[in-house]
Amino acid sequence: MARVFSGIQPSGEIHLGNLLGALHNWVAEQHKHEAVYCIVDLHALTHKHDPAQLRQATLSLSQMLMAVGLDPQVCTLFVQSHLSEHSELAWLLQCTTSYGELSRMTQFKHKSDETDFVSAALFTYPALQAADILLYDTDIVPVGDDQRQHIELTRDAAQRFNQRYGETFVVPSHQIPKAGARVMDLQNPTSKMSKSAGEGAGTISLTDDPKAISKKIMRAVTDSETEVRYDPAAKPGVSNLLEIMAAARQSTPQSVAENYSSYGALKKDCAEAVVAMLAPIQQRFGELSADSGETARLLAVGADKARHMASQTLARAKQNIGLLDGEG
Ligand code: AMP
Ligand code: TRP
Repeated sequence: MARVFSGIQPSGEIHLGNLLGALHNWVAEQHKHEAVYCIVDLHALTHKHDPAQLRQATLSLSQMLMAVGLDPQVCTLFVQSHLSEHSELAWLLQCTTSYGELSRMTQFKHKSDETDFVSAALFTYPALQAADILLYDTDIVPVGDDQRQHIELTRDAAQRFNQRYGETFVVPSHQIPKAGARVMDLQNPTSKMSKSAGEGAGTISLTDDPKAISKKIMRAVTDSETEVRYDPAAKPGVSNLLEIMAAARQSTPQSVAENYSSYGALKKDCAEAVVAMLAPIQQRFGELSADSGETARLLAVGADKARHMASQTLARAKQNIGLLDGEG
């Protein structure tokens, strides 16, 4: 059975882009394949953070992932820092990834422009991500379109390691959803919806109430024409709403467009579709948040399952790269 792996950072609020671009796919994959999902708290340390907030965000993200439909009985759900294997393999992969490759990562260029303290770890971030993926002999990585380059780097690192040190890693491929792969900011539809803009009117958080959701969608930036047409280059705002609705209704943006002749009607129905999609998730999130002890227990079980897989791959990588066995 194919193995699926993906990760998400516990920073900021989980938003509609995360749900449509990644989490929906994660939920579906857990029933088709052996699925491993990781809350990547070590990645969240690469930028400025508040320690208490990070702890809370990690807990609440775990609950949100379960609310969205990840079932810890079916998949493996765990927190990255609960296993030391991730940091260990990341070091080996930093030694087999070049400075030039890391310099070409657009996410690094983007994020380093936005902050006054650029940590060394922000630069080597993709090597840790590659470690996450390779530790589980992953075949498929479901992610949003923005992660394409990181998965390519992971493939290159795995192939290079295998070539230099002998067959060690499975070379994974990415899987990017057709609708919702890139949900754009409602106020600025040429940039993607993101957590950093989380407080703003352009991002729909999965915990926003129905009124807030409707308000944000009704005020979404469109354009000065009136025709409803799917054309991301010429009409990014309208196309974004069509993509969101298509993902919520399991349709295509082109066929959604055929039903509308005004922006107002499209926005109203889009808001309704999003509210209806989020209602059951929010209810379940409320229930799960009430029992943090149970969440911690489920995460510990997840970490045990993950460690069982990861420790074997790490031992193989250490052996092949030439580290002396310390077991005695
Ligand atoms: P992040 O929020 O950067 O930790 O991303 C978690 C997952 O959500 C990754 O698979 C991303 O590719 C996906 N994702 C993040 N933002 C968006 C977006 N605006 N549209 C679609 N997918 C996204
Ligand atoms: N870099 C990813 C993001 O920003 C998060 C991530 C970390 C990830 N490790 C991963 C995604 C492994 C997929 C597989 O979204």
